[in-house]
Amino acid sequence: MSEFERTVVAPALRNLETFVIGREALAFDALPSTNTLLREHAGQGAAEGLVAVADEQTAGRGRRGRTWTAPPGTSLLLSVLTRPTWLPPTDGFLLTMLAAVALAEAIETTIRMPISLKWPNDLQIDERKLAGILVEVEADRPDRIGWAIIGCGVNVNWQPDAAVGQSATSISAATGQPCDRAVLLQAILRAFDRQYLALRTGRREALRETWLGRLATLGQTVRVDLATESFVGVAESVDQGGGLLVRAADGELRRVLAGDVSVRRAQPGQPET
Ligand code: BTN
Repeated sequence: MSEFERTVVAPALRNLETFVIGREALAFDALPSTNTLLREHAGQGAAEGLVAVADEQTAGRGRRGRTWTAPPGTSLLLSVLTRPTWLPPTDGFLLTMLAAVALAEAIETTIRMPISLKWPNDLQIDERKLAGILVEVEADRPDRIGWAIIGCGVNVNWQPDAAVGQSATSISAATGQPCDRAVLLQAILRAFDRQYLALRTGRREALRETWLGRLATLGQTVRVDLATESFVGVAESVDQGGGLLVRAADGELRRVLAGDVSVRRAQPGQPET
């Protein structure tokens, strides 16, 4: 058993006591991407709840085709396989909400600092990105999701500023002390299990309200970067499909989708394009 498995994954799985998430788990010192690995397992019929955790990824993937990099030993890089066949593909954004709420609750319980969300699915502490989520969904029929991989990258014990810019942080940078990754991983798996079972039993509105309650983006002036244009407006709400409704300067309410845009807080004095 490797050092990573012995000190992080095995203690997290001991006495886990979940119903679905983490009943089976795969641990890796290094692999290309936990999401990519679980896509293969999903295609081969693996049961839902399977978790893959890595100490390092050599081809970690972020949203919108970006890469996700983290030095070994510093982060929690994990993916969860779910089979929410009770959800239509149009409700896929609920899985992003589920992941964000589960991660936020687990981190908050562990470090006792408030975590907020930035649309569509960044976790923040003091307005700096602490964790990202990549949900990949496949519909096996037009009316239902066959499987969904929920991938999470949490910056735990490092200072990512130099690598990814001033807008990122980590748990240790925020608290001033190292965080035990085993304790946090167990809290994350338990929170995922709780949220997944709640959603499976129909608690969609409760999840949506909890997610909205953490969303720091609403009411803010944001800059929306589309492929061919950018505009500034006020983020007013999020619709059922997860689209952000932004009131542009000309008064038009525009719907922006996570796949198409990056939303940034508009900075005073920053030129608007
Ligand atoms: C984002 O762009 O904010 C989402 C980042 C998601 C990264 C995680 S790390 C574990 C899992 N495996 C991947 O390749 N990506 C996700």
